[in-house]
Amino acid sequence: MSNYHIKHLEEYFQVYRKSVRDPESFWEEIAEEHFLWRKKWDKVLEWDFTKPEVRWFGGAQLNITENCLDRHLTTRGNKTAILFEPNDPSEPAQHISYSELHERVGRMANVLKSKGIGKGDRVCIYLPMIPELAVSVLACARIGAIHSVVFAGFSATALATRINDCDCKMLITSDGSYRGAKTIDLKGIVDKALEECPNLETVLVAKRIESDIHMEPGRDHWLQPLLDSAPTDCPAEVMEAEDPLFILYTSGSTGKPKGMVHSCAGYMIYAAYTFKNIFQYREKDVYWCTADIGWITGHSYIVYGPLANGATTLMFEGVPSFPDFGRFWEVVEKHKVNQFYTAPTAIRALAKENLEYVEKYDLSSLKVLGTVGEPINEEAWHWYNNNVGHKQSPIVDTWWQTETGGIMISPIPYVTPTTPTYATLPFIGIQPALMDENGVEIKGNQVSGRLCIKFPWPSMARTIWGNHARYRDTYFSAYENKYFTGDGAMRDAVGYYRITGRVDDVIIVSGHNLGTAPIEDSINEHPAVAESAIVGFPHDVKGNALYGFVILKETGETRNRENLYKEINQQITEQIGPIAKLDRILFVSGLPKTRSGKIMRRILRKIASGETGNLGDISTLLNPEVVQEIIEKAG
Ligand code: WT7
Repeated sequence: MSNYHIKHLEEYFQVYRKSVRDPESFWEEIAEEHFLWRKKWDKVLEWDFTKPEVRWFGGAQLNITENCLDRHLTTRGNKTAILFEPNDPSEPAQHISYSELHERVGRMANVLKSKGIGKGDRVCIYLPMIPELAVSVLACARIGAIHSVVFAGFSATALATRINDCDCKMLITSDGSYRGAKTIDLKGIVDKALEECPNLETVLVAKRIESDIHMEPGRDHWLQPLLDSAPTDCPAEVMEAEDPLFILYTSGSTGKPKGMVHSCAGYMIYAAYTFKNIFQYREKDVYWCTADIGWITGHSYIVYGPLANGATTLMFEGVPSFPDFGRFWEVVEKHKVNQFYTAPTAIRALAKENLEYVEKYDLSSLKVLGTVGEPINEEAWHWYNNNVGHKQSPIVDTWWQTETGGIMISPIPYVTPTTPTYATLPFIGIQPALMDENGVEIKGNQVSGRLCIKFPWPSMARTIWGNHARYRDTYFSAYENKYFTGDGAMRDAVGYYRITGRVDDVIIVSGHNLGTAPIEDSINEHPAVAESAIVGFPHDVKGNALYGFVILKETGETRNRENLYKEINQQITEQIGPIAKLDRILFVSGLPKTRSGKIMRRILRKIASGETGNLGDISTLLNPEVVQEIIEKAG
């Protein structure tokens, strides 16, 4: 039992060593003692990073919803599982108990079955942060359907691409959504997306904003009447350990989004185990993660990790700025939140506002503060520590990825001494390595390199949906026998890790992963544009913002630049989403290229961030003269 909940630093080191020395028996013990199985495994781990192939708990059978719901019914039936806090603070919060959630998931699962959904079918979920979202996710898991949640801020084109990539049969959505003072016509976006999705058969529509929407006969159904007439009891589908549980898309540096596939058993164990330790969750605590379930953070640390531990997880529909910038803290006070997990971009945005917004509220319930999504800068770290935690709540800077399924490098609060901007130590079972440019592992401390992981962990993604070769090429080909994260990191004198940022063409804007290629493709589709390149530049709230360098076609040369800029952003908004809009644009006559024709983004990045004094060697460029022109225009 002791290994499940780590309480002091020596214990961490001891358990860590055990998890590395003998990973199989370590994870077997955790699996054995803390989860519910229909059948135990034949083999704990089989792996080969060259293929790559990873199997955890092969031969075992389970259903994750029995671990998240059924097994809590006798001891926690009346405990709040989901605490729903609506967008509008005057609308009452909802306390959904474990037994009620169990029933609601049962009903929803029966509705899915009645519409012909079964094990292995893909169901797309495009919902705002309302209870139906969590219920839909769990209902899919209940019957073995593979959910693919698409963040409800994505555009119609992005939604259609994701529906088609994994061939979803069904879509679950709502009439609309609230976002602060605004309402969003979600169903309108869905209707537009579905023009491009011939194979999608059924749409279930939850009511949230009571708007007048189009319902396509034969295809679209209101959800509530179906739920009302469905039985509450739905037996759990027996799943193999390695069956896919869900697909979640993440941007790549090139090409279309990657549908990362997560499996049932390994994902469950790692999400649950990290949740317990990294948030030091105790039975009566109220835990709140402000992410959207549309991202991996919400999958692992709003839904599966907390529920597998029988926790109370707060689900927030709103935004930090509505009705004013005190909303987060108002909610913390109102529900006496104990663990609070958010993103550096939210902290920076709130830190710009008047301190009264945070000082007004009683935050003494807080015991642990978390951040995720991008490196947290020192200023934001101190603001969070001083004004939210009052130096009493340790900050866990958690580094991980959609691909890793769970937190990989993080302090354990009250166990690991924290240092601002450091994610600190690898979590139990995680074996990081820093690699140099020649593919050699850099040993020792006070070094930096490219961050890899050299041994499998239970919740790693198993493949990219429909494209295993891309999975291998993206993550397992850069360094032999290692998973490459795409991030750079340094390891300090005491072995603490600090993540320095992406080393590939992914830019993290407000904590969202954006690939440069899809944005460039979108810009290039504009009739006046010949070519473009996107780079990130520092932004005090978003972390990074996007800077577009655009070459116009001859026909575009006469166009008004301001209008072009607007049209390009409009096009990006429609094709990718508003998050990918350019903060700055520069129309140029050429882009710095190597002799092999590759754009030298390094130079553009320096120009975009105003560091033109030290551009490095540009003599190898095909067109060095263009650099001067760009610098002058950028002014
Ligand atoms: C990328 C993964 C994991 C959930 C949210 C993002 C960056 C994430 C940190 C952190 C520094 C971080 C990395 C990573 N990142 N957390 N604590 N410190 N960087 O998931 O969209 O898959 O993005 O986010 O660059 O590779 P994601």
